[in-house]
Formats: sequence, C-alpha cells, structure tokens
Amino acid sequence: MTANDLAIVILAAGKGTRLKSRLAKVLHCAGGRPLVEHVVRACAPLKAKKTIVIIGHQAEQVTAVVEPHEVETALQQPQHGTGHAMQIAKRALGHAKLALVLPGDAPLVRTETLKALVATHRAGNAAATILTAVLADPSGYGRVVRQSESNVAAIVEESQLTEEQRELNEINSSIYCFTLEKLWPALAQVKPNNKHRELYLTDAIAVMAAKGETVLARVAEDSREGLGCNTRADLADVDHTFREWKRAALMNDGVTIQLPETVVVDPDVTAGQDSILEPCVQLLGKTKLGARCRIGTGSVLNNATLGDDVVVEPHCMIADSRLDAGVKVGPFARLRPGNHLKARARVGNFVELKNSAVGEGAKAMHLTYLGDARIGAKTNIGAGTITCNYDGFHKNPTTIGNKVFIGSNSALVAPVRIGDGAYVAAGSTITQSVPADGLGIARGRQENKPGWASKKRRELARSEESKKPARRRKRGKPRSSKKKKTRRH
Ligand code: UD1
Ligand code: MG
Repeated sequence: MTANDLAIVILAAGKGTRLKSRLAKVLHCAGGRPLVEHVVRACAPLKAKKTIVIIGHQAEQVTAVVEPHEVETALQQPQHGTGHAMQIAKRALGHAKLALVLPGDAPLVRTETLKALVATHRAGNAAATILTAVLADPSGYGRVVRQSESNVAAIVEESQLTEEQRELNEINSSIYCFTLEKLWPALAQVKPNNKHRELYLTDAIAVMAAKGETVLARVAEDSREGLGCNTRADLADVDHTFREWKRAALMNDGVTIQLPETVVVDPDVTAGQDSILEPCVQLLGKTKLGARCRIGTGSVLNNATLGDDVVVEPHCMIADSRLDAGVKVGPFARLRPGNHLKARARVGNFVELKNSAVGEGAKAMHLTYLGDARIGAKTNIGAGTITCNYDGFHKNPTTIGNKVFIGSNSALVAPVRIGDGAYVAAGSTITQSVPADGLGIARGRQENKPGWASKKRRELARSEESKKPARRRKRGKPRSSKKKKTRRH
C-alpha cells in the first residue's frame, strides 16, 4: 500500500568536513554499503508517494548510488544548512501533506522505527515529531529540550548549549516527521544565527513550539538507530553495529560463528544451516554459502557462490567464483574471478586459478597456476603445473579432457588441448596438443653414465692431495721445529 500523503526527504548534500576526506560523507561505507544507500533502503518499504534525495557535494556519485532505488534528486548548490536543504526540497514535495525527513549520514535506522515515528505523528496530529535517542555520551549532537513529558520546546545544537543543557542526554537523530503546512511558515522565520551562517532545520522546532504547535518526540528503542556519522570514529562505531546485527541474523538462521567479533559479513551475504565460519573470516559482496560449509580462518570470499558441504581451508581468497557441492580448496589457495569448480573438485595449497573450470572430482593440489583453462572430470594436475595462457598480447585457452594426468612441473603453452585419458610427462613444456590416451613428453632425454660420479670424486681427491704437501712445506716446517726445541729445554 502506498502512503499517498507522505513524501520522504533525505538530506545528502553536505561535504562531511569532519571526516577529512575527498569523498563526500554519505558515500563513505559502513556495514558494507554507502551510508546514504542504507537510508534509502530503510525508507523503501514505507512506499511513500515520492522520495527526494537532496544532493550537492559529488552530486553525480551520490546520484549513481541512490538512483537504482527509485528516488528523485534535487540539487542544493551551495549548501547553506539543513533548513536550506529542506527549502530546496519544497518544490519537489508538491502537495504531500507529511514529510519524513532523514539525514543521509544516520544509516542504522530501521524501517519499523520509521513506521512507528510516522504513526506517532499521525496519532498525535502533530506539527513535528522527532526521533530521539538517549545516549550515554551525547556530545556532538543537538539536544532535545522538552517542555513537558510529551512535548518538545526546542533542539539546541552542541555549540549553543548552556551549561545546564549540557547535561541533557536525549539527542536529536535528525529524523523527523513534519506536517508540511506547519513547517514552511516556521522555516521562513529561521535565521542563520550560528557561526557557520547556516539555516538550521532544528531551529524550526523552537519556532513551531513557540507558536503553540504540537512537537512530539519518539525515543528510539535501540539508541544506536539515532547515531550519525560525522567522524571516522563514528563510521567505525556504526560499522561495528551493522556487522554485529548481520552476524546475529546469520547465527539466528543456524550458522556457527567462532569468535564472532572477528568475522566481517556484508549485508547481502547468505549462508545455509550448519555452516561454520572460523575466526577472522570475511564474507563480502553477494557471497552465498550452501548448507554445512566450513570457511577456514583468515579466508576472504567476495561474490563467491558455494554449494552444500564445501570446505575452504584457512587463508584462501576467493572472488567471483562458483564452487559446487563437496568442493574443497586451500589452505592458501587464490581463486581470482571467473572460476567454476564442479562437484568434489579439489584445489590445494598455493594454487592460483583464474577464469577456469575444474571438472567433477578433478584435483590440482599443489603450487599450480591455471588460467583460462577447462579441465575435465577426474583429471589430476600435478604439482607445479603452469598454464602459459598469456603470450604478451592475448589470453589463450587450455583445454584438458577427462581423466587426464598432468605430470609435475609441466608448462602447458596455450592454446593447447590435452585429450581424454592422456598423460603429460613430468617436466614437459607442452606446445602441441596431446591426443586422447596418448603421452605428451617434451623434455631433454635422460642419459645415465655408470661410475661417472665415483670417477669424478677420485679425480677431485687426487687434485686436492697434490696441493696439500706444497702448502705444508711452505708454512708448517719452521713452526714444528721451533716447537720441538722448546719442548727439549
Ligand atoms: C545534525 C543536527 C543535529 C543532530 C545530528 C544527528 C542540524 C543543524 N543539526 O547535526 O541536531 O543531532 O544531525 O546526526 O541539523 N546536509 C545537506 N545540506 C546542507 C547541510 C547538511 O544536505 O546544507 C545534509 C548532510 O549531508 C547530512 C545531513 O544533512 O547528511 C546532516 O548534516 P550534518 O552536517 O551531518 O549535521 P550534524 O552536525 O550531524
Ligand atoms: Mg551528521
């Protein structure tokens, strides 16, 4: 159901000076997404008549982030404060009766909380309803000054607090619901009475309250929903909370997480029941784990799709790759983008794969590079095998059939094909295709020379001997005669 009288305004034009960054504040990431994207996503289920994002700093990049979420944008250039940002939104708001206003830098707010805020506003027939939070350390935030238990008199910014007001620990989250016909006249009376010469939206609250309008406050049940991100420390705090919530959701769905505080999981990640995440694992992007997977300590998976019962041993990196049921990789394997490991395939230590398919039950267990390779079922790739897929200009394919045996330390110079059931002799440099069931051998032929080593040793020993007496005569004799003399006396 759409809320036809409700519009949403997200204030996202600011620079974020306190972050000391070249990137606009709302584009900074926490919990695996840009701040403003979290806000837009939290708003979407409200099905408002329209959602307007106020853009300014790095407007193009901010637009690129919010555009896929069916929002409009309005440009605030230059930025003269949150009150000014609301004035910019006015034309786009049209005939909406209510506006839910949110800052683009408070990403922890949840849809349920926003719905409750609008419901409180409607039920109280208020001019404004503020989402507030009670914080142990309210410093940096505007404080809520109440005139009665239910009604608000003003929001006072940190820089304008009196000594008494400094004790107040109920903060303004900057998330409000306004009845627009009450907001506009109040905002028109607001003056830029602060050191930044900005129009503060917060000042409209005192104007409304002074006129006798109803200004309500709803305290967030989880105070973290009110947290904004003005500094890097704020970003770290908010990221911490997002990660904690995501891990809790996975554990709730039947995933074991060892030392959870060390595990980082992005918001779109899913994991099947009885999967186990060991300490210091990162599951990023759109990674999907089947049931009963085990991800070893220190492994980082980004956009990986794992079937059931997949084991990733410690310290693997897996990007944009698919691992079917029962696959085992690592420890210390690196899967660069574009791989498909079919059921029960094995990839061992110090193996690097890129854009390669490994057939069912096939193995590449040690010290190998497979790039642009297609490998059939039950094939064994020996230790130290390298596909030479790059000729300095192009990437070339290597195609290896089923039940092939590639001997250790082979170089397969692509493009090349190894037929089903073929062998490649260890140490070969294969430059021509090997037919099915054939042997490809491409290395210097071995020759054994019986007795060569002992003969060589004898020669060496003789030459050493011939040098020794000469040395002794020269340096040794006078010393030994002197010693004897000393002993006699
Ligand atoms: C604001 C509130 C403060 C509240 C805090 C909660 C004001 C004056 N103060 O302070 O009471 O406790 O949020 O986090 O509103 N923006 C624009 N255009 C502008 C200025 C800002 O779009 O001209 C956007 C920013 O990009 C940001 C949001 O408005 O997303 C809030 O601005 P910010 O500078 O973060 O305000 P705070 O100092 O945090
Ligand atoms: Mg802020």
